[in-house]
Amino acid sequence: MVTAEAIVKALSLLPHPEGGFYKETYRSDGVISEDCLPNSFEGNRNYCTGIYYLLKSDDFSAFHKVNQDEMWHFYAGDPIEITMITNEGVLNKVRIGSNIIKGQLPQFVVPKDVWFAAKVLQPNSFALAGCTVAPGFDFKDFTLAKRDWLLKKFPHHSTIIKSHTRQ
Ligand code: GUN
Repeated sequence: MVTAEAIVKALSLLPHPEGGFYKETYRSDGVISEDCLPNSFEGNRNYCTGIYYLLKSDDFSAFHKVNQDEMWHFYAGDPIEITMITNEGVLNKVRIGSNIIKGQLPQFVVPKDVWFAAKVLQPNSFALAGCTVAPGFDFKDFTLAKRDWLLKKFPHHSTIIKSHTRQ
């Protein structure tokens, strides 16, 4: 059986601040000047970037948000549950995976500015996915949520916030 550790090694993945492991696989040469981007972007950005993202079931991707719509692609392993909370406090869950008949999606776009977290629900397993954004990613576009701040803003979602935050 292929292990998460073997894939992390084979693809040279590194720990991501949200949890899980990643490696950037694509960064377009083309650059969009800051003048042509919305005010939410500070500085220039490449047209597009993509990463591999691996998540083990004993870990989680902590609540964070990204300045761009982020397209997730499912590649291998067990399904990933993505939990989103809009700025209006509406919670939504989707599963990305290969069992399409069961409602799992091979692709899903997390809208920009939505708080989201991810988890592999099947014990002793992992998932390998890809995440693509345009304009291309910069850590300036990424905000990791603080647990207390999120709890204050969305007190009715306290259970999921507590289980999907570290700081
Ligand atoms: N590059 C580094 N971190 C990320 C991330 O969280 N999302 C995307 N799309 N690219 C990244």
